[in-house]
Amino acid sequence: MQGRCVPCPQPTSQHHKVQVLSEDEVVVAMMDTARGWIRTCRSLCVLTGAGVSAESGVPTFRGPEGLWKMRDPMSLATPEAFAEDPKEVWEWYQWRRRKIRGCAPNAGHVALAAVEAAKTDFLLVTQNVDGLHRAAGSRRVAEIHGSIWGIRCTGCGAERYEQGDFTDLPPRCGACGGLLRPGVVWFGEMLPREASGAATDMLTRCEVLIVAGTSAVVAPASGYAALAKRHGARVIEVNPDETPVSRICDATFRGKSGEVLPSLLG
Ligand code: OAD
Repeated sequence: MQGRCVPCPQPTSQHHKVQVLSEDEVVVAMMDTARGWIRTCRSLCVLTGAGVSAESGVPTFRGPEGLWKMRDPMSLATPEAFAEDPKEVWEWYQWRRRKIRGCAPNAGHVALAAVEAAKTDFLLVTQNVDGLHRAAGSRRVAEIHGSIWGIRCTGCGAERYEQGDFTDLPPRCGACGGLLRPGVVWFGEMLPREASGAATDMLTRCEVLIVAGTSAVVAPASGYAALAKRHGARVIEVNPDETPVSRICDATFRGKSGEVLPSLLG
């Protein structure tokens, strides 16, 4: 049977009121919605990057004043660079260790430590090596790029935490005389198995993922938001700038994490 030709419905004389929201009102509404997701979810994951520590005074890597604007990462953050010139690599790490030692957690770190207490299933996955999340009180932390305070012997493999300066660079192991190296992950190296396993487990089961302060250009963390999204998580981004993950996010907040996270998590 052929469809009967009928006139299309005409608009009635009744006008529906369309409410046009201002940009600020949209942000407030989005904030309310995202706060609801966070409050009601059973499992919450947070992925952080250097931007979360920017307001504490720790330099980021990219951006106009980023560390990689001044120095080539391949000459400082690779096993090859360390093999070629361990003293130069250590001088750079000693400079960063000194800088970070003078930095304290900011309101963003504090808000993240506080929300952890409210969730039974929680993991903070960080690319940061500065230790500021733990200093703020976070306990369930996966440091997927290691820690700048960790020291490992390239000879006997002994590991320890050491916050003080080394007088002679490059430092050597007291036990075997081998070269000591910073306990961070360099480009081309594997992530620590325990931290990266905990991260991927959580990303595949979390209901909400907050991605804060990362440019999302370094693998594998650059793929974490997409992984969580594929497994059904709502993804919320906190970053003053757009990033490659912005387009898959359910909510984005263009601001500093020290300001946005306390509102989002408070
Ligand atoms: P990046 O320096 O690449 O990116 C920092 C991000 O933080 C940028 O997207 C900024 O827009 C954002 N940002 C800046 N200030 C912010 C603020 N106050 N609040 C929130 N966001 C802010 O740092 P990462 O993404 O962490 O790896 O870099 C990833 C990895 O690349 C690092 O772990 C390091 C680096 O090379 C290694 O060294 C192996």
